[in-house]
Amino acid sequence: MASRSHPDRDAMQPTLIWDLPTRLFHWTLASSFVGAWLSTGSDRWLAVHVFLGYLMLGLIGFRLLWGVLGTHYARFTSFWYGPRAALAYLRDVFKGTSARHIGHNPTGSLAIYFLLFLTLAVGLSGFLTLGGEEQQGALSGAMSFVQARTFKKLHEFSANLMLLVVMGHLTGVVVESFQHHENLARSMLTGTKLAEPGIPSVVPRRGIAVLLLVLILGSGAWWFYYVVDAQLGPASSENEGPHVKFIGAPLADNPVWRSECGSCHLPYHPNLLPGRSWQALLTGQAQHFGSDLSLEAGTSATLLTYAAANSADRHRTEAAYKITRTLKPADTPLRITETPYWVKKHRNITQAQWQSAAIKSKANCAACHLDAEAGTFLDAAMHIPAESTTPKARP
Ligand code: HEC
Ligand code: HEC
Repeated sequence: MASRSHPDRDAMQPTLIWDLPTRLFHWTLASSFVGAWLSTGSDRWLAVHVFLGYLMLGLIGFRLLWGVLGTHYARFTSFWYGPRAALAYLRDVFKGTSARHIGHNPTGSLAIYFLLFLTLAVGLSGFLTLGGEEQQGALSGAMSFVQARTFKKLHEFSANLMLLVVMGHLTGVVVESFQHHENLARSMLTGTKLAEPGIPSVVPRRGIAVLLLVLILGSGAWWFYYVVDAQLGPASSENEGPHVKFIGAPLADNPVWRSECGSCHLPYHPNLLPGRSWQALLTGQAQHFGSDLSLEAGTSATLLTYAAANSADRHRTEAAYKITRTLKPADTPLRITETPYWVKKHRNITQAQWQSAAIKSKANCAACHLDAEAGTFLDAAMHIPAESTTPKARP
């Protein structure tokens, strides 16, 4: 579909090149990509991030179909160029002699195939990371945190690679737009380009586009108001609505542990220390940080069994895995607040904050973690008391 480099512009007519479903696909994928980048860094936005991942996988599924069933310029057969053609075209671009293509040019086509492949790689590795690191999604429980680390690296690597290809694609669009005096980004919006009279418009395919739009919006509604909401219960003041939280499966609970260990402080969930620490704490219970716990032998045994079965070595949560991974095998910490992972995670909190009336002690986990009782310690359930960040007034 290449025409000459400098065709007679006056004879050309606006012609529909990109059908509506292709444009809808393009812009939804592009904005999902941006959204997925913006929602990294904190579990607070995990529900959004994960939705965008599933959406992108669905979009790729659609695009693969549309590459066979779509209108002329959307079909793979219309931009099936090899790497050699892509390199040759790139050379022409540098020389300023590249031929104008009505559909995708050979270099752009290569970027499109890379992006289709990388979206699949990013999406699938993200799905595996979600199952392993967060123990959520269809694969929850099927993978260990150790395996998840590999998938997470793959996820980050492929996402970075994709960002590079996206930047290459954008550079290509800008350079091409200048070389051929046309706004390529706008034609991906309007669908039309100037073409010689002999080139026919494609069919817009509005019905399919509406169907695609309904699927995209419907899946969003289903996800945020059914899947996520069902995990969280209705929104309340502590749970700021379905779009921000993403809570995993509840951890084991034990009423004896709760009553024996919850009378002086939070009944710290056993997943926060390795089994050997609980063993040491319970055998040394007569000198428990200055208190004598006076536990009966039977109670002590019950507590120890529960602690051993749910200790950090069991890797039931991300925190449990990371607490044990950063401990030396010879170390038996008696405090959660002395483990390297805990220290690292809390290094930005000031001495004044720890001593503030709202917090009082490092061991007062529930002051900042709404899910401290449950033991899950998700980013999404973090809530630093506002009073702790304002300096105390001096009398
Ligand atoms: C009689 C009161 C009392 C009871 C009952 C009690 N503790 Fe404690 N515990 C303390 C005190 C006091 C501290 C030190 C708190 C501090 O330094 O802020 C402490 C600290 C801890 C810490 C260290 C917290 C940190 O800084 O990381 C752990 C772990 C702990 N207790 C576990 C248990 C377990 C398990 C039980 C139940 C078998 C239990 N405690 C029952 C009084 C109690
Ligand atoms: C002053 C408020 C505060 C208190 C009290 C506090 N934390 Fe935190 N905690 C934080 C903040 C802030 C972070 C997030 C650090 C970051 O940005 O990664 C955090 C992160 C964590 C994480 C990592 C969560 C994740 O997935 O990134 C764990 C686990 C954790 N805290 C456990 C505890 C435990 C156990 C206690 C009590 C012994 C405790 N925290 C007490 C503020 C607090």
